[in-house]
Amino acid sequence: MRNVTCIEDLRQLSRRRIPKMFFDYAEAGSYAEETLRANRADMERIKLRQRVLVDVSRQDLSTTIIGEPVPLPLGLGPVALTGMQHRDGEIAACRAAQAAGIPYCLSTMSICSIEDVAESVGKPFWFQLYVMKDRGFVKSLIERAATAKCSALVLTIDLQVLGQRHCDLKNGLSVPPAIRLRNVLNIMTKPSWGWGMLMGKRKTFGNLAGYTPSDANVASLASWISTQFDPALSWKDVEWVKSLWPGKLIIKGVLDVDDARLAAKTGANAIVVSNHGGRQLDGAPSSISALPRIAEAVGNDVEVMFDGGIRSGQDLMRALALGARSCLIGRAYIFGLGAGGQDGVARAIEIIRSELAVTMALCGVNRLSDIDRRVIAANGA
Ligand SMILES: Cc1cc2nc3c(=O)[nH]c(=O)nc-3n(C[C@H](O)[C@H](O)[C@H](O)COP(=O)(O)O)c2cc1C
Repeated sequence: MRNVTCIEDLRQLSRRRIPKMFFDYAEAGSYAEETLRANRADMERIKLRQRVLVDVSRQDLSTTIIGEPVPLPLGLGPVALTGMQHRDGEIAACRAAQAAGIPYCLSTMSICSIEDVAESVGKPFWFQLYVMKDRGFVKSLIERAATAKCSALVLTIDLQVLGQRHCDLKNGLSVPPAIRLRNVLNIMTKPSWGWGMLMGKRKTFGNLAGYTPSDANVASLASWISTQFDPALSWKDVEWVKSLWPGKLIIKGVLDVDDARLAAKTGANAIVVSNHGGRQLDGAPSSISALPRIAEAVGNDVEVMFDGGIRSGQDLMRALALGARSCLIGRAYIFGLGAGGQDGVARAIEIIRSELAVTMALCGVNRLSDIDRRVIAANGA
């Protein structure tokens, strides 16, 4: 990793080190990937305003996220199958986040379970919840997160039905990988990944152990899971989750102003403006284009977080300027994980931190509270 200087380097390394089906799984968007591409294209269109001869010697990147002090306005978002990118990937990512002092959010669809992570890390982490059809099971997940002392519940609301990613079907994605000649040949070219996986804690969905049908073969498991998402989900279910969860609540997956207002009314601590990294509604606007109107509409009613397309500290700056108080990253740290495990995630975080510091300085800004629309160049957003 000596020559790694940017997130793209981590992406290239990850592509070389992990099996194709899991790299594609992380990188892809749904259907024609219009929204995936828009997340990046719209981000790059926003130009920052260069300022000179401003004293930027007293920089401070620290802030709070839902009341938790952080040295950087950044967290690691929930990513399914993180443990397939690297042995015990959820634990590695959580350790890297905690070493950097920022939040880590474990996905419902993780490989390591809530308990695996809790017993392996030193501090509380966040847990992301999908409300599936079996509400009894959902309730048990909430209780497990509370027992593990998770410091926030992140309720994802943009996945009532699953957007299709063509590559997952074509690659025959399953967990663990199905024994198909093409997969086996590919995995044989990634020996360190394969060895790591053999030594890892788990090879299938940790939080769902005991819940998935005992007779499911590996290939049918993923399709069984997709039938468990609940198309009947409504705002009433958010109230229900809130009544069960004693701690802080973050609602993730808001892209529309009206939905943002409804989410703010639930009394949640924060919302995440997100299109699931372009993996759900293809044809939806980019996250960054939806952010300013949402931030304006909810004002101070609820803390506004953001994700989608962040690959650098410059992108973090853009999102902060357009109304986010903090941001989550998905692929940027997942590429780090595939490239080099915990060290790779730490590297991803450090790259984004140092890029943000330099970007703030070159925009003439010392503190996060000074970042607003004034750091965007005229006609830049
Ligand atoms: C491989 C992958 C798996 C994901 N799994 C989940 C998940 O289990 N739960 C969830 O709420 N979001 C999930 N997301 C969405 C991320 O939390 C986040 O919204 C998205 O990655 C942000 O976009 P970015 O990857 O461009 O940073 C996933 C994203 C990726 C790339």
